[in-house]
This record gives sequence, C-alpha cells and structure tokens, in this order.
Amino acid sequence: MFRNASALVKRLDRVAVVGVNGAGKSTLLKIICGEVAPTEGQVTLGARIEVGYFSQNSLDVLDPKSTILEEVQSHFPTAGLGFLRSLLGALKFSGDDVDKKISVLSGGEKSRVVLATILARPVNFLVLDEPTNHLDIASREVLLEAIKAFPGTVMIVSHDRHFLREITTRVFELDKQHLLVTDGSWDYYLHKRERSGL
Ligand SMILES: Nc1ncnc2c1ncn2[C@@H]1O[C@H](COP(=O)(O)OP(=O)(O)OP(=O)(O)O)[C@@H](O)[C@H]1O
Ligand SMILES: [Mg+2]
Repeated sequence: MFRNASALVKRLDRVAVVGVNGAGKSTLLKIICGEVAPTEGQVTLGARIEVGYFSQNSLDVLDPKSTILEEVQSHFPTAGLGFLRSLLGALKFSGDDVDKKISVLSGGEKSRVVLATILARPVNFLVLDEPTNHLDIASREVLLEAIKAFPGTVMIVSHDRHFLREITTRVFELDKQHLLVTDGSWDYYLHKRERSGL
C-alpha cells in the first residue's frame, strides 16, 4: 500500500497521521501496534515501550455483559478501586455510573470506557485512531488534557482540527503511497502545504 515510508518516532513526539480516506492511516497504526504484519519492511519498537491502542473498532471489543468498572478492572486487575474510580471520574463517570452495563452505553460513553482501559495501564506510547469521533465537546477536552499531560509518545489519526492544532509536534502525511514527514506544529504543516501548492 505504501512504500519508502521510513521514520523514527521519538519520546514525547505528538505525531498526527493524516491522509484521505483509504490512504492507509489505520493500516500504518495497526502495523505499528503489531495488529497486522507489514507485507514488506519492519517496525521496531524501543525496549520498554508499552502501547495503548485505540482502534476504529475498539468499541466492539468491550464485553457487553460487563459493567464499566468490571471492564476497566479486567484490563488492570492489580489497580486499586480508588484509582479506577478516580480515573473513571476523570472520564465523567461518577458514582453509580460505573455499575452500568456496557450493553446500554452510547457510543460516546463506550469511547470513554475504552480510553479508561487504555489509560489505566502504565503505557508510554498512545496510538489513537480517531478517538474523538463519538465524543462530545466536554469529553474531547478531557482527552485533550490527558494527552497534553501524558509523559510519553502519542500517534494520532483525527479529523478534529482543534485537537491537532493543540497537540501536534510532527505530521506524517500518507499521500500517493508515500510518507511525508513534517517536523513542526499543525499550523506550520498547513502553512508549508499551502506554500508547496498542494
Ligand atoms: N485487510 C485488508 N485487506 C485488503 N485491503 C485492506 C485491508 N485493510 C485495509 N485495506 C485497504 O487498504 C486501504 C487503506 O485502509 P485504511 O483503513 O488504512 O485507510 P485509512 O487511511 O485509515 O482510511 P479512513 O480515513 O477511511 O479511516 C483501503 O483502500 C482499504 O480498503
Ligand atoms: Mg482509518
């Protein structure tokens, strides 16, 4: 699908992966997370890299019979109840909310549960494929703040310009089977793109 794509991602990078529908953004993220094997080439993750992966179909992998709290607990059984409740509280699930069954949740609520399962573990590399699609503005802000405060690397596919503008430090653009890397903010990327007449 894409060739000659080579890039090194460093700690604390916030990489926005962009490209038209079908460009291969999700595929690139899956390859990086080891979900699919590359047909050619290789991905090397540094030692001690723990990935937290939010995929476009991660809402479907939640167990509909579990409660919110049980679902998050299953991903991090050693965490204390207080820790998990405060994590869920930060994601706007308070009090009895955490005992709701996954099966009754809205898309936005399920997205927040998935984000909780990802953030519950001590990961240092967040790979997020369109994480804000079902989120309302308040939940987007919660995620945005979590990403800003996150002491690791972030690679994200998103169509949310506000999000991209707030966090991006590098842009990986998938275009006509090439990977174009721009080091700099989202505005710098747009500026550079405009100047090159694309
Ligand atoms: N398992 C597969 N087998 C065959 N083709 C696939 C497979 N997975 C993805 N593709 C194709 O590879 C291309 C890239 O898909 P991908 O999902 O990575 O795109 P994307 O950039 O994430 O698009 P979107 O913005 O719509 O999410 C598409 O043309 C898709 O149909
Ligand atoms: Mg995709």
